[in-house]
Parts: sequence; structure tokens; C-alpha cells
Amino acid sequence: MVVDLKVEVRLFANLRELAKTKAVVEDLESEANIGDILQKICERFGAKFREQILDRHGQPNENVKILLNGRNIIFLQNTATKLKDGDVIAIFPPVGGGFGNVSNRALSTSGGTTVAYYKEKAFNVVENVYEPAEDTFLLADNLDANPGERILELGTGCGLLAILAAKAGARVIATDMNPAALECARANAAAHDVADSIDFRLGDLFEPVAGERFDLVIFNPPYLPIKQNEALSTPLDLAWEAGPEGRAVIDPFLRELPNHLVDSGRALFVQSSLSNLERTLLKLHGHGFSVNIMRKKLPFEELFLLHCF
Ligand SMILES: C[S@@+](CC[C@H](N)C(=O)[O-])C[C@H]1O[C@@H](n2cnc3c(N)ncnc32)[C@H](O)[C@@H]1O
Repeated sequence: MVVDLKVEVRLFANLRELAKTKAVVEDLESEANIGDILQKICERFGAKFREQILDRHGQPNENVKILLNGRNIIFLQNTATKLKDGDVIAIFPPVGGGFGNVSNRALSTSGGTTVAYYKEKAFNVVENVYEPAEDTFLLADNLDANPGERILELGTGCGLLAILAAKAGARVIATDMNPAALECARANAAAHDVADSIDFRLGDLFEPVAGERFDLVIFNPPYLPIKQNEALSTPLDLAWEAGPEGRAVIDPFLRELPNHLVDSGRALFVQSSLSNLERTLLKLHGHGFSVNIMRKKLPFEELFLLHCF
């Protein structure tokens, strides 16, 4: 019997969700299993995706993992696992691997723009801009922005955090190296009526705010390690890849941070268990900061929210 089976497929890059596709896989036998879904997805996303999932003999790559409905981890060898309507499968490449441009294409399959929600506020996320994820929401839940404060957000992406800070009454400067992100964030700020409270600036880390100091600096930096020879070049790669040790952005950030805080200034930023928390703490203590850490477990890593003062 042929039925319509609708399954949501989420693609991860380097263990971090980069995009989810509203992909609906239809017209499958009622006995459909994960193997059938993967075949369909390979047809849809093409050679690059297929290379990661299957070897050249069409056999499943044993290092790819699948999470079914956020609970059961399934290795590709167990592709006989049956699926039912409404299931959500998350596909993880091997550590250090990725699906190339597949993630971007996944975004564009739903029209190039997705909508992220935080506490009933909607934020458009256009192609090539980081879609808010667990790390964004960890920061958002703990954003202690106060009226009248001067706040800097580095790497604003779609602008969600800068907009929340502006809504709390702060004067915000939001930067990004990705021009598409700034354009997207500007549009979101206008939609949330805070365009006049946020100054958007293009550039690398503190470069656009040379000589300026802030009450609070916020950053959800790229922090995931990549293989030395992995060539990543899309604007979206810029959102998460951070060199072989995962520290290519965080180290220069930590070096410069004290020069951009007022005397009682503080910083709030995210880091992953994959990129050496101890080293970050050594550097922060070396600068004389006190640090509070909140932790959040994800399937293959732990996120840390560092509050420095
Ligand atoms: C993980 S995303 C976070 C986006 C957004 N703040 C959020 O939390 O959803 C990291 C952002 O930092 C930007 N970025 C990466 N390296 C940067 C750098 N050296 N200077 C400024 N922005 C950078 C990326 O383009 C991306 O928008």
C-alpha cells in the first residue's frame, strides 16, 4: 500500500544544527524505514550529501549517526528501523565532517527564509545567515540587559539578541563579518521597532568599535573545531567553524575583551566542551575576571554560558 509519510529531517554540521528542512517524504510504503528516507534525501540533495551518507558501494557510512525523535541514537547500519508519520530524524555527520552546501540548500528548500521564534517574537532568517539555535536561546534566556546601558553584540546573525537588548532599553552596537547577516538583522530590528536603538557595523571582532567601551559585551561565537584540511568558505560556515582547535575566534576575542569594557563592565558568551573551556578560564582569570558558568547538555557536546565580571 502506498501512503504519504511526512517526516521532518534535520541536518547537522559538526554536531551542531545548521539547518532544518521542512522536507516531506511522501509516497512511501507504509513499511518505510530509515534506509528508505535516506535514499529519498540523497536523491533530493545530490552527490555531496550522498558521499557523506553512503560509501561508493552504496553501503552506509558507519560514522554517521541518526537521532530519532530526540531520543534514540541509531547507527546507519540499523536502517531497518521503521518510521511513522510525524517522526523527526536528525542526521549527524562524523565528528569534523559536514554536509557541504547541503545545509544551505536545505534552508532554501523552504523558500530561502525561515522564521525563528523566541517568546512569541518572530525573526526572519534569510539564506546564509545562522539560524538561532540552543546557544542563541541560552544567551537570550540569561541576557541581563538594562535600560540605558551600552551593549555590544559581536556576530549578531539575524539580530535576535541585539533586538532583545534594545527592547530592554539598552543602546546597542551589533556587528557581524557577514554582510547578509547585518542586512537580515537590520530588517528584523525595523520589524520590531528598535532600528533606532541599534547601530549595525560590518567587521571582524572589535575592529568596528576601536577605542569604544561597553557595559556589556555579548557573543555567540563560532566555536567548533574543524579538520585542518577541511575547506570551508560559505558565509554560513563562518558562523560555526573555528579552526582545528575550535579557538580561532575565541582567543582573539579574549585578548581584546578587557580593552572594550568599562570598569564595572561584564561579558556574556558561549563556548562548547569541544573547544577547551580550561584554556578560556585561564585567560579570563589572567585578566582578573570572575566567572559564573551555566551548562547545557546537547546530544554530542555540552554548552557553557560564561558570565564574566
Ligand atoms: C553562531 S553565529 C551567532 C549568531 C547570533 N548571534 C545568534 O546567537 O543566533 C556566529 C555569528 O558570528 C559571525 N562571526 C563569525 N566570526 C566573526 C568575527 N570574527 N567577527 C564578527 N562576526 C563574526 C558569523 O557571521 C555569525 O553571524
